[in-house]
Amino acid sequence: MSTLIKNGTVVNADRTWKADVLIEGEHIKAVGEGLSGDTTVDAEGCFVFPGGIDPHTHLAMPFMGTTTADDWESGTRAALSGGTTMVVDFCIPGHGQPLMDAWAEWDKKSETAYADYAYHMCVTYWNDQVREDMGKVVGKGVTTFKHFMAYKGALMVNDEEMFASFQRCAELGAMPLVHAENGDLVAALQQKFMREGVTGPEGHAYSRPPSVEGEAANRAIMIADAAGCPVYIVHVSSIEAHEAVARARANGQRVYGEPLIQHLTLDESEYFNPDWDHAARRVMSPPFRNKKHQDDLWNGLRAGSLQVVATDHCAFTTEQKRFGMGDFTKIPNGTGGLEDRLSVLWTAGVETGRLTMNEFVAATSTNIAKILNLYPRKGAIMPGAEADVVVWDPKAGKTISAKTQQSAIDYNVFEGTKVSATPRYTFSRGECVWQEGKLTGQRGRGRFVPRAPFPADAVALRTFKAMTADKAVAR
Ligand code: URP
Ligand code: ZN
Ligand code: ZN
Ligand code: ZN
Repeated sequence: MSTLIKNGTVVNADRTWKADVLIEGEHIKAVGEGLSGDTTVDAEGCFVFPGGIDPHTHLAMPFMGTTTADDWESGTRAALSGGTTMVVDFCIPGHGQPLMDAWAEWDKKSETAYADYAYHMCVTYWNDQVREDMGKVVGKGVTTFKHFMAYKGALMVNDEEMFASFQRCAELGAMPLVHAENGDLVAALQQKFMREGVTGPEGHAYSRPPSVEGEAANRAIMIADAAGCPVYIVHVSSIEAHEAVARARANGQRVYGEPLIQHLTLDESEYFNPDWDHAARRVMSPPFRNKKHQDDLWNGLRAGSLQVVATDHCAFTTEQKRFGMGDFTKIPNGTGGLEDRLSVLWTAGVETGRLTMNEFVAATSTNIAKILNLYPRKGAIMPGAEADVVVWDPKAGKTISAKTQQSAIDYNVFEGTKVSATPRYTFSRGECVWQEGKLTGQRGRGRFVPRAPFPADAVALRTFKAMTADKAVAR
């Protein structure tokens, strides 16, 4: 069976042109003119681009005494409805839990996925077993390891542990990811504000200032350089953290930075809202920042010093957020965004001229496919690629509302936002899974996508590090 997507304009990260797309089985067979297929899909007036890849989600994740409300079913349904055809979720072992045991738990949960997925493995403690198990993890197709520099007493690892893990990453051709916030300082500042009677959600923002993020980003980047591996800083939210990434890149380091759609479009005034629920629903780490930081993140996407726009989708209901009434340190950290990422980025980015359509595709799909060594299996409209394709209607606007969303929670941080474009069709590995507002794919059809170690950046870095290594003086 083949499908021809006709009359659309193809948008890849490198160019835009009028062409039809022929899908055969799970793959793109041809892109061009004069093609024919068994069935035809009309893309008149639409852009046709590679399915979004969200490299940062937390589906059904146990965290802060509860579990995120969007599981693999509602989460990946939300993804497809918004044009995201693949998610990369964080597999998080409990303290002392073997990495492969956590993996088995994640495999169980992800059985219901509608969309394709991969994992990042988290390193939340350190010993020889973890070191050894990292090899097994890479052998099974997970080549990225996340480290939390915050969440003291829970997920946080220290510099010594990070250095050991980063060195292991270098050995395995894997890449560390880092949540960059100085966890000791955050913990101390949280106590200070609680003592002073600042117990509401604004205390969350006060206790995690930009400098705390900038310091940790610089430290992680320095540790990666010493260990000889690339490093990827998740949820870059501030000028300080962006500067750390940009400076390192200017110095020749292999460093990547991921802003979130929330940080690009929502600001810290949300935490000063007199409605406790409104403010608490927006509590995430790092917190939303002011306009200066937002502008800086947009500039980074344009300049290329930031490469990827993610969501860190980590959705808690209002009821769950209320665990932190009277003590902001207990508000479960996290916000949603999986189904709105593309529409909001398009509206706030492409419609305003901040980004070109090609930069939009790069930031939502192609760049992360390359960074994660998935390209061109994913991340491009080209013959041989998997047919993860979005037929994007730039005239099909909507107003975002919790009432009409796929996500399981009772609110949406973008509530009331008017977006100008949505997917007309979403294809995942050749199958039309979302069609004009309706889910057409089957639950559980999503597949794990294994990744090979040693992407080009890791190989280049290893070569360069070997050539420039400090050596003993021959006497
Ligand atoms: O607040 C956040 N970001 N929650 C999810 C966990 C994390 O730090 O990524
Ligand atoms: Zn984080
Ligand atoms: Zn996260
Ligand atoms: Zn394939």
